[in-house]
Amino acid sequence: MTKPRVLSGIQPTAGSFHVGNYLGALRQWVAMQDTHDTFYTVVDLHALTVAPEPAEVRERTLSSFAQLIAIGIDPLKSTLFVQSHVREHSELMWMLACITGFGEASRMTQFKDKSAKQEAASVGLFTYPILQAADILLYQADEVPVGEDQRQHLELTRDLAGRFNSRYGQTFTVPKPHIVKDTAKIVDLQEPTAKMSKSLPSGCVFLLEPLKTIEKKIKSAVTDSETVIAFDPENKPGVSNLLTMQSAFTGTSVEELVVSYEGQMYGALKKNVAEIVVAFAEPFQNRVNELLNDKAELHRLMKVGADRATEVAAATTVNAQERMGLIPR
Ligand code: TYM
Repeated sequence: MTKPRVLSGIQPTAGSFHVGNYLGALRQWVAMQDTHDTFYTVVDLHALTVAPEPAEVRERTLSSFAQLIAIGIDPLKSTLFVQSHVREHSELMWMLACITGFGEASRMTQFKDKSAKQEAASVGLFTYPILQAADILLYQADEVPVGEDQRQHLELTRDLAGRFNSRYGQTFTVPKPHIVKDTAKIVDLQEPTAKMSKSLPSGCVFLLEPLKTIEKKIKSAVTDSETVIAFDPENKPGVSNLLTMQSAFTGTSVEELVVSYEGQMYGALKKNVAEIVVAFAEPFQNRVNELLNDKAELHRLMKVGADRATEVAAATTVNAQERMGLIPR
């Protein structure tokens, strides 16, 4: 029996992945390698939507590629590639853009949030979710492991796949989001109502930052004015977030953790979570450094992944082109 197909992507927009990326998505990427046919991509074209410095794009793309391997993505098991190396992403995006309603694209909340924070939002930022749909549909993905913040983009992808199929004939698999409820939204350590994100660095734990900083950020996490360690995301978002983190990193259920903390103060919880995250980050950092010391090998692996991804992407694109009436070259 063929394994179900998975595709997911991560932007190389920060110098380091963070705990939200890891628990919300990347952990699932690693686990799915054994049960699914997995395609994972560093979405450098998406990163261009906010006009970063070219040197930064280069460095972060390479680092993201290394971080994915360090976190457990095995380039022999998964097709691991850089988005811009497979030109079909841009080609299919255009075709999908032509069946996307302007109003439909305007409803994307992430665009509204991001454009509100910028002086001048680019057209690229506006069409970002259509490029994301192309990423997914090119590989006929059945499932897409992501955090909660990507749900709306996945809905758009499903709508576009369904629309294309009904207008032009069966072409794309309609993908399902794979969102693990417990860790779907890791919140900011300083503002526990916001999702943990690189745009709020003080409450965001980056896996590549100095271990002392990681420890300090977790130990100074905002909690609440009570003293009892309990899981109640609504009323105790800070404490609940720390419990979620400890549970996800250790595999112990939140219920068991709460029992084990009976009679203890918030300090004990913070200290344990800090230790656990540091113990995870330390070998991860060493592995990333090792990988970045051999750039030739990283480039070789990028090419292997790009070649394998291109095979699948090219077949889908030619099919979609023919169905839309474009004459194949
Ligand atoms: P990006 O690069 O912002 O984040 C990568 C993944 O991490 C998840 N995530 C979180 N999960 C839980 N809690 C958090 N605080 C948190 N912060 C981030 C994200 O949901 C995501 O799964 N648009 C995508 C990249 C993309 C993509 C794709 C994803 C491009 N093409 C195709 C899937 C399929 C993004 O910006 O993710």
